[in-house]
Parts: sequence; structure tokens; C-alpha cells
Amino acid sequence: MIRKLQLMTKKISNSKFTNKFRREEDILHKFQNNLAKDFPLLKKRRISYLDSSATTQKPKIVIDKLKRVYEMHNANSHRGLYDISEESTKMLHDARKVFAYFINASTEEIIFTRNSTEALNGIANSLERTLNFKNKNIVSTVIEHHSNFVPWQQLSKRTGAKFRIVDFDI
Ligand SMILES: Cc1ncc(COP(=O)(O)O)c(C=O)c1O
Repeated sequence: MIRKLQLMTKKISNSKFTNKFRREEDILHKFQNNLAKDFPLLKKRRISYLDSSATTQKPKIVIDKLKRVYEMHNANSHRGLYDISEESTKMLHDARKVFAYFINASTEEIIFTRNSTEALNGIANSLERTLNFKNKNIVSTVIEHHSNFVPWQQLSKRTGAKFRIVDFDI
């Protein structure tokens, strides 16, 4: 029996599937190691970090840029008639162009917000002003984070739309 099990284990561990899986795992590790190199915190603390939706770790290029902006250009955008304010206005517009290109949108469609909660509340509030929710359904799922659940729940309370929650299946 043990011999049979040993043979089976050997067969499985030599199988094409396992080899393919190992190759994919290798690629993933290389990818993770390469990626981690760009993130000082991940490199210094040697941790795996899984809470990016709440707070994203910053790569060195972002940290350096933030430092440079605070040291060289920090000023109100759109509100000052002096050099660093105009620089900060230009940087804001340039950033908007980059994001628009990145998600294939137009620059007018890019609105910078502080976080998802604020952004989603903003969308729900603006839909309330532009759409008629009478006899309509607002559909969410049981696995949504509060930031993408409460704004729709509240919108349905305010407008009388039926709030429907879809279960999930994995
Ligand atoms: C999974 C997940 N989604 C979304 C959010 C929303 O975060 P914020 O409104 O701070 O962007 C959080 C915050 O903790 C989160 O953990």
C-alpha cells in the first residue's frame, strides 16, 4: 500500500500539471521579488502586504516625487499668480492627462478624490440629482466593502428606490 502511495505521489509530482504549476509559481515569485524591489517598505520590512484597498504601499518613484513636490513646488493650484502655484497647476493638469490616458478616459472625466468612500458618495449624490429613481432598483452585493455599500443603501432610502442585495457564489 505504502509503495503504491509512493508511486502515486511520484507520478503526481512529475505530472505536466505540477511542472506547469511550479513554473507558474517560479514566475510569480520572480515577479513578486522584482515588484517588491520598488517598494522600500516591503524591501525593508520583508513582509507580504495584502491591505492595498485600504492603504496602498508606495513605490520609491512615488515617494521621491512627493518629496520633491513638497520641497520644490508645494502651493495652491488654480489660485495663485506666482511661480510655484502655476507649477502646481500645471502638474495637476499633467497628472490628469496621465490618468485619463491610463484608463482611456477624457481629462474632463478625471476627478481626484481623497478616497473611495468620498468618491462613491460623490457619484451616488450626483446620480440622485440627475436620475429619476421612482420604481427603480439599486443593486449591490453582500461582499461589498462599506464604502461601496452604504452610499447606495442611503441613496435608495432617500429616493425610494428598491435596494436589492445579490448573494455571491464561488
Ligand atoms: C477592501 C476595502 N475597500 C475599500 C476601502 C475604502 O477605503 P477608502 O475610502 O479609505 O479609500 C477599504 C478601506 O479600508 C477597504 O479595506
